[in-house]
Amino acid sequence: MRLIIAANWKMHKTAAETAVFCSELRKREKKFQGVELLICPPFTALAAAAAVLEGSSIKLGAQDLFWEPKGAFTGEIAPPMLKEFGVTHVIIGHSERRHILGEDDNVVRKKLEAALDHNFTPLLCIGEKEEQRNRGETGAVLERQLRSALEGFEPGALKDLVVAYEPVWAIGTGRAASPDDAAAAADRARQVVESVLDHEVAATLRVQYGGSVNAGNISSFTSLEPVNGALVGGASLDVDSFTALTIAAKEAAGC
Ligand code: PGA
Repeated sequence: MRLIIAANWKMHKTAAETAVFCSELRKREKKFQGVELLICPPFTALAAAAAVLEGSSIKLGAQDLFWEPKGAFTGEIAPPMLKEFGVTHVIIGHSERRHILGEDDNVVRKKLEAALDHNFTPLLCIGEKEEQRNRGETGAVLERQLRSALEGFEPGALKDLVVAYEPVWAIGTGRAASPDDAAAAADRARQVVESVLDHEVAATLRVQYGGSVNAGNISSFTSLEPVNGALVGGASLDVDSFTALTIAAKEAAGC
């Protein structure tokens, strides 16, 4: 399965810094062959990234989107506004949006619908909090998040779905999940997708792991068959570390 590595820059980098990073990354493009690589800068830096990456195989993702195509929604960004910059992927339901900005399963669902309506590849984030994990609820939490996002869709609409398993306690903490736990979560996601959608979508579903991945630990995740890439925060901000991470991920996956 094709590896998908996404740089989630969160609220980092100005447009000028983005242009510098992207032109440096572009010079290394050949090293990334075989990997679907994308950069998700802040909205304000999408134009700068798009200008530098035009014609390259490095894709552009957005960190979020709003579900309406236009209207009186102060501060929000509509899907057609992202299309204008050549955005192809959108992160949906990142844990920082769920837990800091109060997005619930219902909002996540609406955003997923909007992403599909506008032909974006969705990176649907799921993951348990530490207390849920300690209570042994991880599987149930992942299942609830997936069911509420996916139930009722035509399976064909979700053929390009990407799920990012990101345990909340592992994000930005330097405390990554164990590769076995990530693989178990990926297996669980496939089971739920098979039961909610169908076998075909489950068989082609790509599951990323996210949460404190870096160039040193990525290979332990992508060497496992159920894990098909990573959503990378901190380690994606430096072009050398992101390059090293991507190459390590690729070598471990054998692609
Ligand atoms: P991290 O963030 O790599 O800094 O832990 C991952 C994410 O939030 O997507």
